[in-house]
Amino acid sequence: MSQGKFYKKIVCIGAGYVGGPTMTVIANKCPDYKVTVVDISQPRIDAWNSDNLPIFEPGLKDRVERSRGKNLFFSTEVDKEIDEADIIFVSVNTPTKTFGEGAGKAADLQFVEKTARRIKEISRSNKIVIEKSTLPVRSAETLEKILHSGKNSVQFEILSNPEFMAEGTGINDMENPDRILIGSKDTPSGLAARDELVKIYAHWVPKEKVLTTNLWSSELSKLVSNAFLAQRISSINSISAVCEATEADVQEVAYSVGKDSRIGEKFLMAGVGFGGSCFRKDILNLVYLCEHYQLNEVAEFWKQVVTINDYQIERFVKRILRSMFNTLVGKKIAVFGFAFKPDTGDTRDTPAISICRRLLEEKAQLSITDPHALENAKKDLAGLAGVEFEPDPYKAVKGAHCIASLTAWKQFQKLDYQKIFDAMEKPAFIFDGRNHLDHQKLFDIGFNVYPVGKPALLHF
Ligand code: NAD
Ligand code: UDX
Repeated sequence: MSQGKFYKKIVCIGAGYVGGPTMTVIANKCPDYKVTVVDISQPRIDAWNSDNLPIFEPGLKDRVERSRGKNLFFSTEVDKEIDEADIIFVSVNTPTKTFGEGAGKAADLQFVEKTARRIKEISRSNKIVIEKSTLPVRSAETLEKILHSGKNSVQFEILSNPEFMAEGTGINDMENPDRILIGSKDTPSGLAARDELVKIYAHWVPKEKVLTTNLWSSELSKLVSNAFLAQRISSINSISAVCEATEADVQEVAYSVGKDSRIGEKFLMAGVGFGGSCFRKDILNLVYLCEHYQLNEVAEFWKQVVTINDYQIERFVKRILRSMFNTLVGKKIAVFGFAFKPDTGDTRDTPAISICRRLLEEKAQLSITDPHALENAKKDLAGLAGVEFEPDPYKAVKGAHCIASLTAWKQFQKLDYQKIFDAMEKPAFIFDGRNHLDHQKLFDIGFNVYPVGKPALLHF
């Protein structure tokens, strides 16, 4: 299909945390392609077209401004854009199913299926359809059945191209990826479609970093990557419990273990557990897949990664309760950080949700502060009594008995903790759920300090 001054027209369905940033980077790097991101949500698209982007991601605004209106567009005209596209990325949400068979484990594929049906309905020319969403293995088969059903003579070639970016570092992850993975069918048309996608990434990604596999390996590799990363976090968190029992120091253990080049240093930070929209969802999806194939021992193995994560959250709450004389009734707790990690406003599956709910069950009074996640936090805790949202950490700590540090924002490391200590009830406690604060300094000021997986520093 001719696209005027552009070589090809790309459309991405789904303008979320993945669709928006990935397409922005493609538009930046490929001025010869027209890139349009479409979504059914008018407010989301309006925000992408404004100065107030719908997601906070360092470097994103600058990248959007570079291409928006030139070769990058955001629109709700889903049908028109599908019709005109040569290449369609599907980047809709695939949350964990909350109902019926597979509830709590399987991926809810209703949005993907609706998208596939829309593409089939609207298309009048051949198209490459790319799975950007994280999907269960063999989803491409389902997509193909839907797209090629009925009388439509249009040819669709399906590729898998999972996204590996992490929030907060998304722009760098996409501009300098460890690898790009493309799964395709081993047929002449499948390989030709694959080469079209390789051509896009060749604008900025070195050839040796573009990996090509069959469709099922690509789909599975995405689930396995997330499972391996989350497994490392649960491994070190399980050891943090052993450290607390034995007075070993989990950071020293992680450092020593990580120095073995076969193990490596990354993703060994103990804390209150992993959050975010991907890890739990994708592991549970893997578990469901294993159960489907009656690989029950394999399913049990991966289930433990999630079990340890839940255990770590509960352990953190119990430690607060026990240390503060077994009652939190009426005590003010300043919660430092609600986002699931720093440099994002995203709170999906953040450990802070469960921790705050548990503290409220103990009848504590919460004052939550976060540089970018308070709007989402308000929605996550809507309707719960005993909680306030305070942008200023110095106000959040006024009269507080303890601080629960849940997100490793740099801003929190730079605060004046003497001033904070002076404003708090005594004895003042700090529970550093991310081990990112200066514990000795806090202790010297007068705090009773409880890190994760390290001996507490106590004045009594
Ligand atoms: P998201 O919820 O932020 O965005 C999805 C968007 O799709 C929403 O704006 C929604 O309105 C839109 N949508 C749903 N159905 C639609 C339809 N029929 N037509 C048009 N738009 C529709 O989700 P996300 O975080 O961007 O994740 C998208 C996919 O990418 C998921 O499969 C996720 O697992 C995967 N992924 C996410 C990340 C991450 O860091 N968030 C990283 C890698 C992969
Ligand atoms: C993850 C994957 O890293 C990314 O490749 C994939 O595309 C999407 O899922 P994301 O969830 O955005 O990315 O962030 P990530 O940096 O992986 O952190 C996930 C959670 O693990 C956060 O809550 C973080 O605080 C926690 N974490 C991470 C730890 O507790 N310890 C660590 O050592 C690393």
